[in-house]
Amino acid sequence: MRTVFWENNQLKMIDQRILPGRFEVLSYTDHVSVARAIKDMVVRGAPAIGAAAAFGLALAGFESASSSTRELIADLQAAAHTLKAARPTAVNLAWAVDRVLLSLSQRERGWGEGDVDYIRHFVLSEAQRIADEDVEINKRMGEHGAALINDGDTIIHHCNTGALATVDWGTALGVIRTAHEQGKKIHVFVDETRPRLQGARLTAWELEQYGIPYEIISDNTAGYFLKAGKVQKCFVGSDRTAANGDVANKIGTYMLALAAHDNGVPFYPVVPTSTIDLSLAHGDLIPIEERDPEEVLGLEFHGERVAPKNAKARNIAFDVTPNRLVTGIVTENGIVYPPFEINLRKAVLGEQ
Ligand code: MRU
Repeated sequence: MRTVFWENNQLKMIDQRILPGRFEVLSYTDHVSVARAIKDMVVRGAPAIGAAAAFGLALAGFESASSSTRELIADLQAAAHTLKAARPTAVNLAWAVDRVLLSLSQRERGWGEGDVDYIRHFVLSEAQRIADEDVEINKRMGEHGAALINDGDTIIHHCNTGALATVDWGTALGVIRTAHEQGKKIHVFVDETRPRLQGARLTAWELEQYGIPYEIISDNTAGYFLKAGKVQKCFVGSDRTAANGDVANKIGTYMLALAAHDNGVPFYPVVPTSTIDLSLAHGDLIPIEERDPEEVLGLEFHGERVAPKNAKARNIAFDVTPNRLVTGIVTENGIVYPPFEINLRKAVLGEQ
């Protein structure tokens, strides 16, 4: 089953807040609820929120009562604004919404005033295309990335980058899954990924389904195993990668990359080209989301809240790993190596 899909004129999404305890699929019929679902992380992971937002735009088209093309497009633009504001770091969100709007505006013979129903279905078919392409792109990244994995490797993985973070298959976890399907014996150390525990909850749940051996480690254990020579590679995802190869990803990725670098362990982000933002020269320009401190403070141990009642917290959701710590970036167009300023551009634009 896909994480994000269209059925019976509704957007359906697996509720990722309650996994692995409960598996539920929620239905959406309006774009404002989709924007809230992205913000609340019913759906999360850069490619998954991109597809969800594109379908949210399709819902906005069907919600609009407008019978004039001009007004319908104005309604779609307003909905695009709402959807894009849901989360700031993953560029796939704006990329998907802008891609739908751009293909609307690029239609060669323009739109007539009576084309409203045609436009509504055009937006839906563009959203469906984004979703279908995502699966195909992940499979291609899986093939490229799996070539980096040897039989017997132990891999550290951060956050959740699997089928749940995408429409299906996954980015970094998709690479691990492809290598497993090729018959390679792999062991995965799953960073639990505080504070929302996407690793312990979602990645572990996915690895169980695929039959891939794993152990959950607390985030601060990664350095221990890297230094002990127990890990051969690190694979992570990305929410936005700048033109120079600086990689924004789930908080904690930078510390993992530092420890990997210090111990000579290759570090590979797996990044569809839709996540590469060539408009940003370097990673310091990437907007970083800060979320509700309650996600950090609400942790309970033995049924008791861990932090003192009046404690304050900071909850930075992403960090940026500088390109010097990155061995190579796996994209659907192949593996990109330094100098990233030159080679990433080639991979995105198909330049020679
Ligand atoms: O806050 P999240 O759970 O949306 O963060 C997700 C990640 O950081 C993933 O690693 C990233 O989206 C890329 S994987 C598809």
